[in-house]
Amino acid sequence: MCGIVAYIGHRQAYPVIIKGLKRLEYRGYDSAGVALLNHGMKLYKKKGKVAALEETTLGQDLEGNIGIGHTRWATHGEPSDRNAHPHVSANGRLAMIHNGIIENYALLKQELVKKGYKFHSDTDTEVLLNFIEDIQKNNESTLEEALRIALKRVVGAYVIVLIDRDNPGTLIAARKGSPLVIGIGKGEHFLASDASPIIEYTKEVVYVNDYEIAIIKPDELILKNLGNERQTPFIQKLDLELAAIEKGGYDHFMLKEIFEQPSTIYDCLRGRLDVTQGTITMSGIQNNIDKIKNANRILIVACGTSWHAGLIAEYIIEELCRIPVEVEYASEFRYRNPVIHKGDMIIAISQSGETADTLVALENAKEQGAVILGIVNVVGSSIARLSHAGAYTHAGPEIGVASTKAFTAQLTVLTMVALMIAKERNAITHERYLHLLEELNDVPEKVKQVLGTAEHIQKVALKYKDVKDALYLGRGYNFPVALEGALKLKEISYIHAEGYPAAEMKHGPIALVDELLPVVFVATRDAYYEKIISNIQEIKARKGKVIAVITEADETITGMADDVLPVPEADELIAPIISTIPLQLFSYYIGVARGYDVDKPRNLAKSVTVE
Ligand code: M6R
Repeated sequence: MCGIVAYIGHRQAYPVIIKGLKRLEYRGYDSAGVALLNHGMKLYKKKGKVAALEETTLGQDLEGNIGIGHTRWATHGEPSDRNAHPHVSANGRLAMIHNGIIENYALLKQELVKKGYKFHSDTDTEVLLNFIEDIQKNNESTLEEALRIALKRVVGAYVIVLIDRDNPGTLIAARKGSPLVIGIGKGEHFLASDASPIIEYTKEVVYVNDYEIAIIKPDELILKNLGNERQTPFIQKLDLELAAIEKGGYDHFMLKEIFEQPSTIYDCLRGRLDVTQGTITMSGIQNNIDKIKNANRILIVACGTSWHAGLIAEYIIEELCRIPVEVEYASEFRYRNPVIHKGDMIIAISQSGETADTLVALENAKEQGAVILGIVNVVGSSIARLSHAGAYTHAGPEIGVASTKAFTAQLTVLTMVALMIAKERNAITHERYLHLLEELNDVPEKVKQVLGTAEHIQKVALKYKDVKDALYLGRGYNFPVALEGALKLKEISYIHAEGYPAAEMKHGPIALVDELLPVVFVATRDAYYEKIISNIQEIKARKGKVIAVITEADETITGMADDVLPVPEADELIAPIISTIPLQLFSYYIGVARGYDVDKPRNLAKSVTVE
């Protein structure tokens, strides 16, 4: 949540920052701002998206080789010009951007108010900034020293970047709990929440660790811990191309990412799945296979779409490996003092690798001795680094706020992990193992076939674009697919949608059914097929509208449903990866038809780095 960009070097900072903020807009887009140093400080802030900020700055003085910029997802204080970052300290000397939450800001504010400080925003950021200024003034210390003292008192999560009007040759940054990447150029440095604003300038980056302070000059990067000890920056090479973060001719990132799925799933399988040899190779799993295969219990911890992937993994792992699995919302798990036994293994699933609840839940579990296996998309992210072992999903950057390709990549990796464990435990027959390998291998092609029906899906979507509510139902492996379908519709089209296990409908939600309510069934041919047909009939008997994701050429359900979205036949264990695709497109087309910004749905942010 919130995107930060900063620059120091020989270029003009403003264009670098604005371009970077646009790339980070997926992290928050309710206001944006920039501060530049050039014979004094210049500050521009505006409610709305980065484009609105750009308009405000037209014709203004934008000179300066050092600057900071921010795109905001509001936590403290409504989206407005005055709450937008950067904030400027009371004496006008410091400006700061912040991503995160200062939990003890109210206490700090009280202290500062008693000293006569006045605040011009409702943000926790302005409080922290003045707290730093106050320490600097009282102790006559350098900004770096003042920051170190201040951060020892701060409770919460932050990445902050500061500029000092009286010291225009240095940027100072610090991190705890929120992400910060520093790009290293020739005589210049780039700071950002992720690598996307940086890659067109340099591929050499440093991921700043928690409790580190960075002192950055054009040609020098110093990292220190809060104890003022120098740390050695670990320089990594980015494995990311510019094309991967651009729309590539599609109207929206979400559509591009949906259509990328044949190749992202293929990339996820590539070099790992070998059908001819009958092997799956994932070194992160293989190197820890003894601990993993002997786990007494697996706990899956995640949020949102990643949690849905975890639910499907629960079905798959229990079926194939015969290890009990529990799937936990990270936000609940972290606070409820969970029982963690020796021999428990935790699988953390996260696209961003930065979700605050998931991260803290894992930190707690790790302290209690749990082994953490991370299934993460963003390479080098906090969750990836915190995990003992893991496997990347290799879906490439996902920029649309609604998760699509990351979800199918998560399912692909989780299925491979389950197959590896099942094989090691001798819990699966060789024939079934080989069959599932072949089925997985066929997924990219089958997904391509579903994408080939996009026009039909769009026609169906347009019929339902004005509905107020929708119910999504599925059974077995398809139940979490229904949950995910409902989440996608909510996020993108703002239509109220609920997912349920189809049989649970009778225990309450069926009261909602009338001739206006569309009910989306995920009803591909599987062990529950006959049962779900009965559920469809129960809806039809109450005049509900039925839209069904079916296995192609299923005449029975075609004859009952108002509309069908066919997908190729697949083993029921693999089918969720395929049957989720029409639901992604269904939501996308409805969201677009309703005129919404599907890449940046209201109130949402891609990377939820606050709890
Ligand atoms: O980055 P993560 O996978 O940890 O994010 C978890 C959720 O915030 C995320 O899946 C969210 O629900 C998406 N908006 C879903 O489309």
